[in-house]
Amino acid sequence: MKSLIIYESKFGNTAKLAEKIAETLGSQAVKADKFEEAMLEGVELLIVGSPVWAWNIAAPVKKILKIVEAKSLQGVKGGAFDTGFANKLAGNACKKIDKKLRKAGLDIVLEPMHFIVDSDKGPLKEREIERAINWVRNIH
Ligand SMILES: Cc1cc2nc3c(=O)[nH]c(=O)nc-3n(C[C@H](O)[C@H](O)[C@H](O)COP(=O)(O)O)c2cc1C
Repeated sequence: MKSLIIYESKFGNTAKLAEKIAETLGSQAVKADKFEEAMLEGVELLIVGSPVWAWNIAAPVKKILKIVEAKSLQGVKGGAFDTGFANKLAGNACKKIDKKLRKAGLDIVLEPMHFIVDSDKGPLKEREIERAINWVRNIH
């Protein structure tokens, strides 16, 4: 299955998860500023990851989701994750990304997943990398 992971990351924590997920799936992780629309060609599984910024999806990811929504990705499998604080009041991005992917016609095969950082710069809470690997391990 050809997969693509698109992510934003200011301090490297979301990048770390995206790279691990890509490695687990034998696919490629692309940071938002390196993304090109042509990369979506033939993709069968699209995973989008974002840090939570001000209770929302990071702006560079929002921009890509607009491109994704404008394409016909009916039947492409999809999933969303984010990184942010443990406190639920700090909001999430994964459920918002999930909603946009559904709107774009993707077939969501992963529960939107929130991975926890201890502060703005990280680090990721212990065992979040393992949790990310397990999150994608059983996709088919
Ligand atoms: C401008 C800004 C706004 C943020 N707002 C939130 C927020 O509303 N909720 C939250 O949980 N974390 C928030 N954070 C913390 C980020 O989610 C955290 O920096 C991120 O998970 C780290 O991922 P990265 O290393 O990939 O950038 C914010 C961080 C920045 C820089």
